[in-house]
Amino acid sequence: MIRAIEDAGHKVMPFQFNDLIAFIDYDGVKIKVGDVDLMRDASAIIVRPFGRMSLDQAIFRIDLLYTLNDSGIPIFNKPYAIERCVDKFRALCTLKMHGIPVPKTIVTEKPNTAFKNLEFLKSKKIVLKPMFGSKGHGSTRININERDVLWEVLHTIGFTKHTIYMQEYLKHGGRDIRAFVLGNRILAAMHRKAPKGMWKTNIAQGAIPKRIEKLEPELEEIALKSTEILGCEIAGIDMVIVGESPYVLEVNSQPGWKGLQSVVTDMDIAMEIAKYIIEKAKK
Ligand SMILES: Nc1ncnc2c1ncn2[C@@H]1O[C@H](COP(=O)(O)OP(=O)(O)O)[C@@H](O)[C@H]1O
Ligand SMILES: [Mg+2]
Repeated sequence: MIRAIEDAGHKVMPFQFNDLIAFIDYDGVKIKVGDVDLMRDASAIIVRPFGRMSLDQAIFRIDLLYTLNDSGIPIFNKPYAIERCVDKFRALCTLKMHGIPVPKTIVTEKPNTAFKNLEFLKSKKIVLKPMFGSKGHGSTRININERDVLWEVLHTIGFTKHTIYMQEYLKHGGRDIRAFVLGNRILAAMHRKAPKGMWKTNIAQGAIPKRIEKLEPELEEIALKSTEILGCEIAGIDMVIVGESPYVLEVNSQPGWKGLQSVVTDMDIAMEIAKYIIEKAKK
C-alpha cells in the first residue's frame, strides 16, 4: 500500500493507533502523531487491521476515527463501516435485515440459555466464534451430540465474560469464496480451499487461493449489496455455497490481499486501491 501510494506520487506516513495523541484545547481539538496535525495535514486516512486490543482501546480508536471523520478527512473505511463489520453480531443482523442470506446464528450471554436453544440451529455440527475475531482464530466446531463438550465450552466462554456466538455448520466442503470489493465493483475474487480435513478456509489457516475469473452474477450482487449495506468502500466478503444456496459469513472492513494478489497476476491490487483513495482524498 505504501509503495503504491508513493509510486502514484504521494507521501505516506504510517502510524499505529497508539502513536496518536488527542488534545482538547480552549480553542479546539487536535489529533497529532509527533509534529503532524492530522486534521491539518492529512488528506486521507487508510485504516489497516486493528489487531487485538482491550475494549477501552477499541472504543478510543473508533472515537479517534469518528473525530477525524467529522473534521472532514476521508477515511477508508468510514468509522461506522468498520464499527459494524468488526462486530460479527451487528454485521450479520444488519445483513439479514436487508435480505442477505447468512447462516442461522444464536448470540447470547448465558451459557444455559445458549444450551437450551441449540435445536434452533438445526445442524449436526455447531460453529462457535469469537464475536470480534479474525483469520479463523479462536473459532471451533463441535458435534451437537457431544453435549458434555458443548456444555463445557459454552460455560468456559461465559466464565471468561465473552458473548456466545454460535452458528449452524454450513457444509461448504472446505471451500469458500472471497470477493474483494472496491467502490462499487468487484476488483477480484478467489476460491479458498482449506487443507484436507480442515473446515476453516482462511489463508491464515493454510487455505490455498485460486482465482475466480468471473464471479457468478448472483454472488457478485450479494457481495456488492453486502458491502453497501455495511457502508464499506473497500471490503473482503466471505461467502460459502451449500448445494445451490449462497451465504455470507462476514464482511471484512480491513481486508488483506496477499493471498488474492498471489493468484491475480494482471492487476496491482494495492495500486487500484491507491488510485481510488487518491481520487477521493482531500485536495
Ligand atoms: N457457520 C459456518 N459454517 C461453516 N464454516 C464456517 C462457518 N463460519 C465460519 N466458517 C469457516 O471459518 C472461516 C472463518 O470464519 P469467518 O466468519 O470468516 O471469521 P474470521 O475469518 O473473521 O475468523 C470461514 O472462512 C469458513 O471457512
Ligand atoms: Mg473471514
